[in-house]
Amino acid sequence: MASAWGFRFKVEREAEVRFETLAARLEALDEPPHLVELARRAAADERRHAMHCARLAAEFGLSIPSEALPPPPPVAPASLDEEDAVTYELAAACCVTESVSVAVLTRLLPAARDASLRAVLRELAEDEVLHARLGWAHLTVAAARGRTGFLGPLLPAMLRGSVDDDLFQPVDPTREDEALLALGVLPHSVKRDLFVQALEEVVFPGLEGSGVDTAAGRQWLATVRSPG
Ligand SMILES: [Fe+2]
Ligand SMILES: [Fe+2]
Repeated sequence: MASAWGFRFKVEREAEVRFETLAARLEALDEPPHLVELARRAAADERRHAMHCARLAAEFGLSIPSEALPPPPPVAPASLDEEDAVTYELAAACCVTESVSVAVLTRLLPAARDASLRAVLRELAEDEVLHARLGWAHLTVAAARGRTGFLGPLLPAMLRGSVDDDLFQPVDPTREDEALLALGVLPHSVKRDLFVQALEEVVFPGLEGSGVDTAAGRQWLATVRSPG
């Protein structure tokens, strides 16, 4: 349990650095100031989330070292120019990852065992909704310039990069224990189902609304879901 919150701490810190970097890159590209501001706010939110995760990990007996993290590696393909690379990063970090986070937190919330855990999950969920919105707002701006279509063929790589390698594999039965939910951790198959549902109900329709052909992404999903 401690390790789940320790892992989440690391994810939140990486998100903090990623949003800080994206705010600077959006500003350098002269993107609308409200998007730069949303990215700055997201970085501050993630720092606060990381502190919550560190505290919860400590409650489960794991102390988290507080050293600074190196910047996370870029996720956009090196072939993209800076404007499209920022669009790719925001689509991956916000439209995909944050939308999935919202689904996960929303599922965890009613099952949380105590009020303090519920309060943290609620705070995270409310912030992650705004972080997802940053991605969608940016895609609207990029779509108006006709600069979103390139994402279509890149969706399989983007989606692959957004999940753990074993998400679509069977795992040790201890990771399927329903009792995990009360402690703020999703059983593996629930996590997989929520990922699929978030893609089908939120991410793919949102991308299509921004001028992205999702056929390759949908094909990727069908392939990873089919057994064998
Ligand atoms: Fe977060
Ligand atoms: Fe976030």
